[in-house]
Amino acid sequence: MADVTRIAFITGGAGGIGIAVAQRLAQAGMAIAIGDTDRDAIDVALGTLRAGGCDALGLVLDVTSESSVAAAYAAIDNRFNRLDVLVNCAGVQGLDNGKRPPVETMALGLWKQTLDVNLTGTFLSCRGAIPLMRRHKWGRMVNISSRAARMRTGLGNSNYAASKAGLIGFSRVLASEVGRDGITVNCIAPSRVITAMTLSASDSKASFEKNIVETAVGRLAEPEDVAGMIAFLCTDEASFVTGTIMDVNGGSYMP
Ligand SMILES: NC(=O)c1ccc[n+]([C@@H]2O[C@H](COP(=O)([O-])OP(=O)(O)OC[C@H]3O[C@@H](n4cnc5c(N)ncnc54)[C@H](O)[C@@H]3O)[C@@H](O)[C@H]2O)c1
Repeated sequence: MADVTRIAFITGGAGGIGIAVAQRLAQAGMAIAIGDTDRDAIDVALGTLRAGGCDALGLVLDVTSESSVAAAYAAIDNRFNRLDVLVNCAGVQGLDNGKRPPVETMALGLWKQTLDVNLTGTFLSCRGAIPLMRRHKWGRMVNISSRAARMRTGLGNSNYAASKAGLIGFSRVLASEVGRDGITVNCIAPSRVITAMTLSASDSKASFEKNIVETAVGRLAEPEDVAGMIAFLCTDEASFVTGTIMDVNGGSYMP
């Protein structure tokens, strides 16, 4: 570990996976900035982090807005004067009243909103992180793709799957662009994780059970399963790991 306190910025940091990542990186000694649209959830997350002794900053952030992302980086630079780690957890499932519409009936607005948050939002936050990480020639970016971008997935998930597949191509190119500056860029591809996002869909109990049966380990993922892999990618030891897709899926997809 470096002799400076590393600073991690987690978009969607008040959500299920985001707060688990924040806690894990805080345990590794990092100071944490969390950005999220949900102000109340930010306050809860900050309370948890600070109770553990972490130097934590909360930012109301909309990753789809260029000015909101720019303001978040200005606040991080102002407060910490550096940025080491970016984990892009902000995301939406792109549902229509809890349901996944097929392509034939999907509204253009829903399609665009899903790509805006999941793909364009990640582009904006990665773009803003580059100059800060370049300053000290060290950086770790982790983008959250999905198993839905890795294998045949259920019906009516095209907007979500397209956004998550886009992240893989985006991350590979970015990894090549910034690698010589000591910055790595990787994707995580989780299967179903128990968070508010999963529970918000009107999926049947049977579909959850099917997901459990599909795994080799016999259970669904907890946010901490994803956070553990992300924390490794944010270490010094992971400096030779870039442009990869880490499948965190309990063995449900083995390419
Ligand atoms: N839960 C799963 O099964 C699963 C599986 C694979 C990938 N993922 C991905 O992991 C990431 C985190 O998902 P989660 O399960 O923790 O979901 P979650 O809904 O618990 O958290 C997502 C967070 O993102 C925030 N957010 C949404 N739109 C935003 C915006 N425009 N700007 C800033 N913040 C915004 C939400 O307020 C929320 O706090 C998402 O990208 C999701 O697609 C989740």
